[in-house]
Amino acid sequence: VSRFEIKIAFALLLTAAIPLTVALALASRLVDESVTVGLNPRVREAVQSQVPVVRDFIRARIAFFKSMVRALAQSHPLIEAIGARDSRGAEKVLRTELNNCEHCTDIELGGAGMSIRVSGRAKFPTETWAPRTFPSADDPGVAVAGHPQVRLRLTAVLARRYLEGLREAGEFAALYTVLAEKSGAVKRSYLIAFGLALGVTLAVALSVGLFLSRRVTRRIGVLIAATRRVASGDLEFQIPVKSRDEIGDLTQSFNKMLSDLGESQRRIVYLETIATWQEIARRLAHEIKNPLTPILLAVQQLHKKYTGDDETYRRTLGEAMEVVTEEVESLRTLVSEFSDFAKLPAVRRAPGDLVAFVDELARGESAEGVEVVVRRPEGPVMVAFDRMLLRRALTNLLKNAREAMQVSGDSAPPEMSVAVRDGEAVLEVSDRGPGVPEESKARVFDPYFTTKREGTGLGLSIVKKIILDHEGRITVADREGGGAVFRVILPITAEKERAQE
Ligand SMILES: Nc1ncnc2c1ncn2[C@@H]1O[C@H](COP(=O)(O)OP(=O)(O)OP(=O)(O)O)[C@@H](O)[C@H]1O
Ligand SMILES: [Mg+2]
Repeated sequence: VSRFEIKIAFALLLTAAIPLTVALALASRLVDESVTVGLNPRVREAVQSQVPVVRDFIRARIAFFKSMVRALAQSHPLIEAIGARDSRGAEKVLRTELNNCEHCTDIELGGAGMSIRVSGRAKFPTETWAPRTFPSADDPGVAVAGHPQVRLRLTAVLARRYLEGLREAGEFAALYTVLAEKSGAVKRSYLIAFGLALGVTLAVALSVGLFLSRRVTRRIGVLIAATRRVASGDLEFQIPVKSRDEIGDLTQSFNKMLSDLGESQRRIVYLETIATWQEIARRLAHEIKNPLTPILLAVQQLHKKYTGDDETYRRTLGEAMEVVTEEVESLRTLVSEFSDFAKLPAVRRAPGDLVAFVDELARGESAEGVEVVVRRPEGPVMVAFDRMLLRRALTNLLKNAREAMQVSGDSAPPEMSVAVRDGEAVLEVSDRGPGVPEESKARVFDPYFTTKREGTGLGLSIVKKIILDHEGRITVADREGGGAVFRVILPITAEKERAQE
């Protein structure tokens, strides 16, 4: 686990933990409050006092009905009517009593040969009213004063609402008691649930953080490994770009830097090699050039000074002088090519239109009777170049193109084209010759590499050196339909100046 990973994971943990802890605190208070609102003393009083109130009310009703029966048993008109065996009089007393009582439904009187039952007219549906008998059904009834064998019984109704209210209040009070006892446990279980949620969220945040940061660090690790490779001198590789984010961009610019570095390294190596070969060419030219004249003079002297009359010997001398003169001549050409190569001047660039330059060059060539086809864009292509050296490079390329076409016997003229691609000037010289075989492509620019009997192998080296000195590049490729394409890429000055601005 790297430091970066720890940082990312910690940041995610923190962002997850802060709101969760606040939520946990709020939740804990909420649970606390909802429990304590329920357990508030006034609520407790209200809940618990409801039970006795309802109970007392019902008791009062029951006591009322009981005392009513007892009072009826002491009623003088009733006692007198019973004493006189006057059933009608007794029934009248009972009805009057029943009519005075709102919730009484029946009064029964029985014993000593009498059995009277009066019922109220009002109906009390049993869904809302519960009938009760006083005294209770298994009791024989209240004895009438003076007539112990005559018994009285009253039936009245109690509102079910109160009876049920009593039951509910009792249940609620019981629940309340349980709640009060268990409030601690309830609170604890809420807190445990919230705590668990917090823990799970933190674990998820931590693993997501580690996962994300690990992906980032792994990709940065690839870049770090690449920088080590570069530091150890390896420039010939590219890192695969997998995504289009900032690290992808970084990888892309790293790759660009690598190829630029590789390019400039190859450029430096090439120019150093050329410099070495130039030095060798200079020395060779020097060493060969000096003895040439004495050799030629000596042979001419020999030829001139012979005055003998041996005709055969004279002829031999004449032939030897011709061979030596010819070979010295070709050695002189070689020496001049060597020293031309050795004394390549430094480029002196001046901005100019590459298109006009190429046109002019082609016109000069066709004036000498050799045709060149030119393809060019509409406007000018401004490039900083050394006219003399670039002409020399292009002449060399055209010379190779013509020599290649002599090999293949094709009579199509070589072509030159100028174009602008990716902000760079692209100048191509192409032919319909045999092309450059794949295995030679890497070597054609090497000094002294040649496949021609009369060639020095310096032509393309000179071209490449000139182009590299122009901060350009040169490549060789196969031409579509056969032949070779030598592609010269030069920076455009206007673009460069605009970029510098
Ligand atoms: N247009 C071309 N088509 C096919 N092969 C080519 C072409 N130009 C160059 N080459 C190959 O590259 C080699 C090197 O070319 P370069 O111009 O350096 O030397 P050269 O032409 O052989 O000698 P010199 O330039 O001194 O006449 C050639 O010998 C040839 O094999
Ligand atoms: Mg050549």
